[in-house]
Amino acid sequence: MTENKKRDNWGSRIGIIMAVAGSAIGLGNFLRFPAKAAANGGGAFMIPYFVSLLLLGIPLMWIEWTLGRYGGGFEHGTAPGIFHNLWRKNRFIKYFGIIGIFGPLVIFVYYTFIGSWTLAYSFFALTGKYTALTDQNSLRSFLSGFQGLEKNQYFNGIGTAYSFFLVTFLLNICIIYYGIKGGIEKLCKWAMPLLFIFGLVLMFKVLTLGTPDLTKPDWNVAGGFGFLWNPDFSALKSAKVWLEAAGQIFFTLSVGIGVILTYASYLKKADDVVLSGLTAASTNEIAEVILGGSIIIPAAFVFFGPVDIKSIAESGVFNLGFVTMPLILNKFVLPGLFGFFWFFLLFLAGITSSVSLAQPAVAFLEDEFNLNRKRAVVIFGVVSFILCQPAIFLLGRGVIDELDFWGGTFFLVVFATIETILFAWVFGMDKAWEEIHKGADMSVPKVYKFIIKYITPVFLFFILGMWLFQEWMPIITMKNVPLADKPYIFFTRLGLLSVFLVLVVLVKMAWRRRKLNFKEER
Ligand code: PFF
Repeated sequence: MTENKKRDNWGSRIGIIMAVAGSAIGLGNFLRFPAKAAANGGGAFMIPYFVSLLLLGIPLMWIEWTLGRYGGGFEHGTAPGIFHNLWRKNRFIKYFGIIGIFGPLVIFVYYTFIGSWTLAYSFFALTGKYTALTDQNSLRSFLSGFQGLEKNQYFNGIGTAYSFFLVTFLLNICIIYYGIKGGIEKLCKWAMPLLFIFGLVLMFKVLTLGTPDLTKPDWNVAGGFGFLWNPDFSALKSAKVWLEAAGQIFFTLSVGIGVILTYASYLKKADDVVLSGLTAASTNEIAEVILGGSIIIPAAFVFFGPVDIKSIAESGVFNLGFVTMPLILNKFVLPGLFGFFWFFLLFLAGITSSVSLAQPAVAFLEDEFNLNRKRAVVIFGVVSFILCQPAIFLLGRGVIDELDFWGGTFFLVVFATIETILFAWVFGMDKAWEEIHKGADMSVPKVYKFIIKYITPVFLFFILGMWLFQEWMPIITMKNVPLADKPYIFFTRLGLLSVFLVLVVLVKMAWRRRKLNFKEER
């Protein structure tokens, strides 16, 4: 069944910039970044971080905006179609493009669930459900009870978490249902400014904390910044630190996974990508380095001091966001209000990212099967809802970490490598340069022609090589997985493989259909 329909587009330039910034600014900026920076050499982490931003992040941002707009011109908003158009002679390249739908779908599955916790905690803050808890252990068991990992005096099952998940999931689906202009753009246009307001309020609150405990004068904000930023240069010798920094750049900018390709496919041919892409990336960096770096770690330092901060910073992102931060906020006047600011900030950051993760799969169904948006969104809703269940019910078995590794780490680098090679070497750097500059409001510094052609791919191959060398065996053999969790992780992998294979079949079907319908498109 085919229906004739026009592809959606963005309503305004500020709209797409907000939407891309919305995708980029997420839980990664406020939780993942401070945790990674603190755990990987503090200020020294910022060296590989900025090197990766300049040599990987910014080039990939431009590559994805350009390739997306290019693909949109052929009515292809996802990587299989875009890759096919870049290298028509290669029959297999479209299958590599599947990663650009698979990766976002995998991240969506757990990201939406975590996003729903932030909505729940916003609500708990306002209703005072956790604000009277003043020690680490109580807040920890509050979180475990909420997640359904234990029954305790706070929660007697996963019911509350599941209800908030349903609300968050349906909100995501509704926004996507209203489309690019009517749903995503509208959401981001009010959510992003609001997010910055909440972030600034929290940042100023932290900056003016002073020295709450006068007997410990060095427990202050300056010390917190020192902890985060004083460089430990020995970290630069560690390959792991470089991998973590590059991984953080990809994750935070939402590049290397297909999402920006899809967003940019709704641009018009003559729309600028150079300045818009750079603006969205810079907005993300401000939110990450300035806001993300000024809230949780400095605040934790002020209240817990130089000794405990180390273990806090290394206690993982969930612990930082849902245990440490509420504990700190509960020491403020008006803990409920500040708690709401914090969790609602995270919720807005999360939902503007999760809708972007859903869009490639929806665009794939719309573009390649000619479904209308309504149908595409319903199919996506049903499938992704089913896929979310293991992440929710098997949280304690490490399923989310497993999904994050494949969707949010490994395939990101693989996909970025394929994209860069296709762009710079198959499409060809001269043509690529011309394509980037179509309708451009500024020119890309000439040195990037060299960087995109040589440095970015070499850097990516290097990262991938290091990874394969250092981590492949332990990952394949599940060396670090507790024995009891092994079957769950095995079935998660099997599930992921099945989803990938279903996508292979769908791509095959779509191309067969296309061949019949549009002989000239071959
Ligand atoms: N950039 C988001 C964050 O920092 O939380 C996460 C994310 C969104 C990653 C979209 C990848 C993506 F495609």
